[in-house]
Amino acid sequence: MSVNIEEALEFITKSYTELGIDTAGLEKRVNEVQQEIMQTGTYSHTLEELAIGAKMAWRNSNRCVGRLFWDRIQVVDAREARSVPEICETLFGHINKATNGGQIRPFITIFQPGSSGPRIWNHQLIRYAGYRSEQGIIGDPASVSFTEVCEGLGWRGTRTEFDILPLVIQENALATPTVIEIPPELVLEVPITHPDFPSIAELGLRWYAVPIISEMKLEIGGITYQAVPFNGWYMETEISARNFADEGRYNKLTAVAEKIGLNTKRPDSLWKDRALVELSVAVLESYHKAKVQIVDHHTAARQFGQFEANEQAAGREVTGEWAWLIPPVSPATTHIFHQRYPNKVVKPNFFYQDAPFERTEIIPVKRGGCPLH
Ligand code: ARG
Repeated sequence: MSVNIEEALEFITKSYTELGIDTAGLEKRVNEVQQEIMQTGTYSHTLEELAIGAKMAWRNSNRCVGRLFWDRIQVVDAREARSVPEICETLFGHINKATNGGQIRPFITIFQPGSSGPRIWNHQLIRYAGYRSEQGIIGDPASVSFTEVCEGLGWRGTRTEFDILPLVIQENALATPTVIEIPPELVLEVPITHPDFPSIAELGLRWYAVPIISEMKLEIGGITYQAVPFNGWYMETEISARNFADEGRYNKLTAVAEKIGLNTKRPDSLWKDRALVELSVAVLESYHKAKVQIVDHHTAARQFGQFEANEQAAGREVTGEWAWLIPPVSPATTHIFHQRYPNKVVKPNFFYQDAPFERTEIIPVKRGGCPLH
């Protein structure tokens, strides 16, 4: 299928205007892109186009409260990485440079677009496994089906509550997936303790430093990049109020409440609310203590306010998805709660795509460590 010429030219025009490139430069590139699409059915982005496209996609991500920093993401052009060893070296490099010893840097790595480019099967590059067992689920329930895929491909987890999943990578749409352990020294994790309630440490909770979403596709000017792992840093409520608290995730609120001596028999003791707040304090303090970057929801909301002001000054409308932008803890204490945002989809943007592993039954199994490690 050929690239939509209007979409391509709309992107080139918009981005070149934003970049302050003159009319002559714009016209030259428009002609070039038209030619290339007419001759080959597609076109290839320059480095500059790739970078501004990825940044615009972040800026247009309606669910993201962290968009103030859209202009500061580092874009890695990995369109030449073809073999599994090259792809996995690139991914390890992303994890390492983004983690940066705890001073997290936003990164996006962009692989070759189209069906001859790679697919990453993981939801995030770093995430915990989840296993069905007689005693219920061990680990992260959100990872159960993907963990089963990994085990179907020959991987075997140790069955702790926090096993790091391997990477599952396909060289291209038709290739056999390869399972690769992430070298443990690349994975920074934070043990969760509480400054006033030492008993919280007895829960043995921990979380990884860097959320690197790897399942979404990126659309820039009619080109679809299906392997584009990207990261920012965490807002504490993502971990405390969702990953640890949701009944369909680690479901730890009762355990936390018991550790800090709350009456869990009566809803009107507000034990859930108090547990949520103390767990949020614990996550923030633990990340601070480990010198791993994290933002609290009040600061993040203020930063989003600055983003809104910047966008208005630039003459752009701020689109957003209210239900995702408000924090799950004390939402009405932030200005976001009291405002409405148009949930319009503007491109470039990130989109969900079908998980490739629904097809595992028909794919023959190849097993291997990373050939370079
Ligand atoms: N909410 C997801 C998680 O808890 C991460 C999503 C991206 N978050 C971010 N701060 N960039 O793992």
